[in-house]
Amino acid sequence: MAFSDGIADFRSDTVTRPTPEMLEAMASAPLGDDVYHDDPTVNGLEQESADLLGKEAAVFVPTGTMGNQLAIMAQTNPGEEVLAHEGSHVRSIEGGAPQALSGVGFRTVSGEGGQIEPADVDSAMEWSGFFPVIGLMVWENTHNLSGGRVVPIDLMEKTSESARRHGLNVHIDGARIFNAVAASGVPITRYAATADSVQFCFSKGLGAPIGSIVCGSTELMAEVRRLRKRLGGGMRQTGVIAAAARVALASRDRLVEDHILARRLGDLFADAFPGSVDPVSIETNMARIDFQSIGLSWVEASERLESAGIKVNPPLPGGWRIVTHRDVDASDAEKLLAALS
Ligand SMILES: Cc1ncc(COP(=O)(O)O)c(C=O)c1O
Repeated sequence: MAFSDGIADFRSDTVTRPTPEMLEAMASAPLGDDVYHDDPTVNGLEQESADLLGKEAAVFVPTGTMGNQLAIMAQTNPGEEVLAHEGSHVRSIEGGAPQALSGVGFRTVSGEGGQIEPADVDSAMEWSGFFPVIGLMVWENTHNLSGGRVVPIDLMEKTSESARRHGLNVHIDGARIFNAVAASGVPITRYAATADSVQFCFSKGLGAPIGSIVCGSTELMAEVRRLRKRLGGGMRQTGVIAAAARVALASRDRLVEDHILARRLGDLFADAFPGSVDPVSIETNMARIDFQSIGLSWVEASERLESAGIKVNPPLPGGWRIVTHRDVDASDAEKLLAALS
């Protein structure tokens, strides 16, 4: 259902507002100073997350960006490159942080839907001497810029094995890894086993107001914790936000509802504007629409949407991304179509 002010916001799954259960948990959370490791709510969330992923330890961080960047910083040296998909969030949408903070560049791969083949790793690693050393490989699952596509687990297993054979550490930007789990039915431990570090966000489809986490070995997480302090991410009574994140994590099974709604949206667009969407490409909570098929200019469309109380991001060259989450439903989807039709 739209927000209480009547706005239906399809821009991102980050726009959700905390539920009454989250607010209650925040108000009653036991607290301590997390820089001293004294916050029982944060400690509980870190343990729970590490256990869930089958990793030894975890570090709670304010944002997915900080989680990814700490993983890169802890597992590379300045002057090295990160092997990643060309459309990866860590490369394109984190404000140049890898270059500015870790002094690393990128060796990119252009597979469909965020995919990286074992042969991509082999050929990237073949060249040494003149080229920068590749220090880390990064997956993104689900893959945001391709419209929330799920990177298949078999491929992740094969390619990560190849990366490890070459001595590379592997990181997963799993901002929406639980959407991949909900869509594929593959256990989270199997995804996590393909990597040395995994970052996931509580503040995306899981619906918490703030927070992400990095999981990995005890030794790697000790380094991530040290670097988090360096970047100013050592927070104090963080249990206030970790409490909401724990509620969000416990409700992860509801992500399938967002996927059903995204497919419903896809069907509505396909009926109203034939050829505007490939329903098969809607695997999780994002629908990618060919905006040209709608027959309106962006100015016309955005005026109509604004007066109908609907928020959507402008189209990008790769498509128009519409995102479902806990705070929109089927009636909002119908309202969106009615405004454009
Ligand atoms: C795939 C992916 N990784 C990382 C992030 C960064 O998360 P944050 O906005 O919490 O920094 C996002 C944000 O949308 C994302 O989509």
